[in-house]
Amino acid sequence: MDELEQLPIPLLVWYRENARVLPWRTHPTPYRVWVSEIMLQQTRVAAVLDYYRRFLESAPTVADLAALPEDALMKLWQGLGYYSRARNLQKAARQIMEQFGGVFPNTYEDIRSLAGVGDYTAGAIASIAFGIPVPAVDGNVLRVAARITGDSGDITSPAMKKKVTAALQAVIPAGEPGNFNQAMMELGATVCLPNGAPQCDKCPAASFCRALVEDRIGELPVKAPKKARRMEERRVYLIFSDDGVALRRRPGKGLLAGLWEYPNELAGEETIPDALGLSPADLELVGTGRHIFTHIEWRMTAYTARTEGLALPEGWVWADREALAREYAVPNAFQAFSEYVKGKLGYFS
Ligand code: ADE
Repeated sequence: MDELEQLPIPLLVWYRENARVLPWRTHPTPYRVWVSEIMLQQTRVAAVLDYYRRFLESAPTVADLAALPEDALMKLWQGLGYYSRARNLQKAARQIMEQFGGVFPNTYEDIRSLAGVGDYTAGAIASIAFGIPVPAVDGNVLRVAARITGDSGDITSPAMKKKVTAALQAVIPAGEPGNFNQAMMELGATVCLPNGAPQCDKCPAASFCRALVEDRIGELPVKAPKKARRMEERRVYLIFSDDGVALRRRPGKGLLAGLWEYPNELAGEETIPDALGLSPADLELVGTGRHIFTHIEWRMTAYTARTEGLALPEGWVWADREALAREYAVPNAFQAFSEYVKGKLGYFS
């Protein structure tokens, strides 16, 4: 991977001119960098910005985050997805309070020991917030490195990640590790794009990029195909009364743990209408929705019923429009039905 030796100077020059102005770059305190890196996992910069601002308003310090009530935390994360990131963020804030006296740890190993912080995130925080010369290797960086070096190793493999990490460790500039890592991410996010659309005419590595010089941009990076997702057909019940729409809390472990949802079940189970004393004739078809998680896909069919004097099972609630907007975090998986529910609750009246 010798081509990488030529990279730091042109890359840093390019970054100085092309870096996007982003809130965590303007004041890169450890806490701000950490929150940004967790939010940016699996999520694009544009989608993160508003969440980031609101999160820092509600929890401006590690101590505030450690003390945030669970429902407030989930509400702040509502719509971002991958909710275990938020739970781990709070777990790590409590770790910092208890194990590090409330002070953000300042070595790679201690940062890496925090809940939800893997090699990439530890490298990003250590380099950006503390100036420690360690690489931060995520999917974007792997793609950039595979192309520049013309390496056809599978970028989803641990072996390739190890190889790229070692090669970058050898060339990372000691004086500017944070800028170097962020420049790599920036190049991956804005120029060295995936899916055959890189803008090589704008790339500071164009003159020594093996993939470009050898006309192999379309072939690189090599990526092993993902396993197929499990498909689930689900029935979703949008049950209304004068008190609002029925919600129930999901179990504390597993997919969308602890979030609120419209009652739903696998097609074929059909225990919910029975439990509520609703007959098929009470249920009207509303529409369908789909949501793709990492390992599962939900294909949903929603039914609605208008009820009066219905006693909800233990742990279920009626949410009126204020409560739905402010209190209960309902994940994006149900977004296909949110306009319908809002309409019924009088959002547009
Ligand atoms: N993606 C992950 N970390 C990032 C950062 N610090 N800046 C821009 N995009 C990122």
